[in-house]
Amino acid sequence: MLSNLKLQPQDKILQLIQMFREDPRDTKIDLGVGVYKDANGLTPVMRAIKSAEQQLWQSETTKSYTGLAGEPAYQDAMIGLVLGAAVPRNRIAAAASVGGTGAIRQALELVRMASPDATIWISNPTWPNHPSIIKYLGMKMAEYRYFDADSGAVDFDGMCEDLAQAKAGDVILLHGCCHNPTGANLNMTQWSEVVRILQATGATPFIDIAYQGFGDGLEEDAAATRLVASSVPECLIAASCSKNFGIYRERTGILMAIGETAASQPVTQANLAFLNRQNFSFPPDHGARLVTMILTDDTLRTEWQTELEQVRLGMLSLRTQLADALRVASGSDRFGFLAQHRGMFSRLGTTPEMVEKLRAEHGIYMVSDSRMNIAGLNARTIPILAKAIIDCGI
Ligand code: LMR
Repeated sequence: MLSNLKLQPQDKILQLIQMFREDPRDTKIDLGVGVYKDANGLTPVMRAIKSAEQQLWQSETTKSYTGLAGEPAYQDAMIGLVLGAAVPRNRIAAAASVGGTGAIRQALELVRMASPDATIWISNPTWPNHPSIIKYLGMKMAEYRYFDADSGAVDFDGMCEDLAQAKAGDVILLHGCCHNPTGANLNMTQWSEVVRILQATGATPFIDIAYQGFGDGLEEDAAATRLVASSVPECLIAASCSKNFGIYRERTGILMAIGETAASQPVTQANLAFLNRQNFSFPPDHGARLVTMILTDDTLRTEWQTELEQVRLGMLSLRTQLADALRVASGSDRFGFLAQHRGMFSRLGTTPEMVEKLRAEHGIYMVSDSRMNIAGLNARTIPILAKAIIDCGI
C-alpha cells in the first residue's frame, strides 16, 4: 500500500529552513520563514508568556481534557481581542484550533459541509498553504488580483473587478491585516468598498488574521476584520496566536463562525466541536491557557502589549532603514514601497532567478516569489542586503 505513495510538492517556505541550515557560510542571512527575530537573530519567549508559564506551573492541578472546542474563557478572550464588541457574542460560534492553520483547515471543512460547491476566492498571491489546503480538500478555487508589482501596492481596481464575479455561497478569503506574502494592505476606505462588494454579491468573507499587532497596532490591525464582520450576515475568522504571542510551537489558534442570528449559533458551535473531534479530538491547551491568562490579567496584558509594541516598532524601523539604504544605493525611490508595507513581510518584486542569485552569490535567503521576512534583518545586515540587491541588478 505505502508503495503507492508519491512525493508531495515541497512547501517553498519550509524548504528554505532546511537549505539555510545546511549553508556553511557564516555571512548568510535568513529572510525566509515568518518567525520574528530580535536584533541578535533570536526568537525569544515573550516576557508575559514566561510570567504566565510560571504562574501556571504553580497553579495547574490537572492535565485532564479540556472542552472539545477549547475553554470558553479562551474563546471569549480571543473574540474580545479580534472582534472587540463589533458583533454580538451570541452570534459567534468559536473553537480552539491547532494553530492558525488548523483554524483555516477547519473553516474550509465547515464550508465544505455546508456548501460543497462553494468556490473559495484567494488573493493572487497568497500564503501558499491556502491553495494547498483548498486543493487537498478537493474544493473549487478562484483567484482575485491583489498585488501591483510595479508600484508594490495593492491592485485595488483589479481586486474589485475580480471580487465582483463572486456569487452568493462563494467564500472570499481575505487577510485581516499584514498581507502575507506582499506586505501591501488595503486602507479603511478600500475595506468599505470590499464590504460593499460582499453585500452586493452575497459571498461570505473568510478572514485569516495571523499578524494582529504587527502592522499599525493591536486595535488598528483588527479594524478591517471588525468592519467586515459587523457589516455582513455571515463571516468566518481564523486567528493565530503564533506570532503576536510568539508561541509558534504551541499551536494556538481559533476559528470563529459568525451567523446571521443567535438562533443558528448552537448548531454551528456543535459542528465546530464535531470537526475538532474528527480531526484531532481535543485542541492543544497550553498556549491557549497562557493567552487567556495574559488577556484577562491587567498586569500580564500590559507586559505583553508593551513587548508586542516594541516588536512592531522595531520592524517598522527596519523597514524605514531598508528603504533609506536602497534609496542611497539605487539613487532612486523605487523601493520606497518597503516603508509603506506593514507586517512581517514585504515582496521585493523580482524574479525567482534573481532570488536564486541573491542566495547563491550573497547567502541571502528569501522565498522564491521574493517575499522577505523583515524581522530577519538588523542594522548590520540592512546595508549588506541593499548592496546585494543593487549588485544583482534588481
Ligand atoms: C510563513 O508564512 O512563513 C509562516 O506563516 C510560517 C509558515 O508556516 O509558513
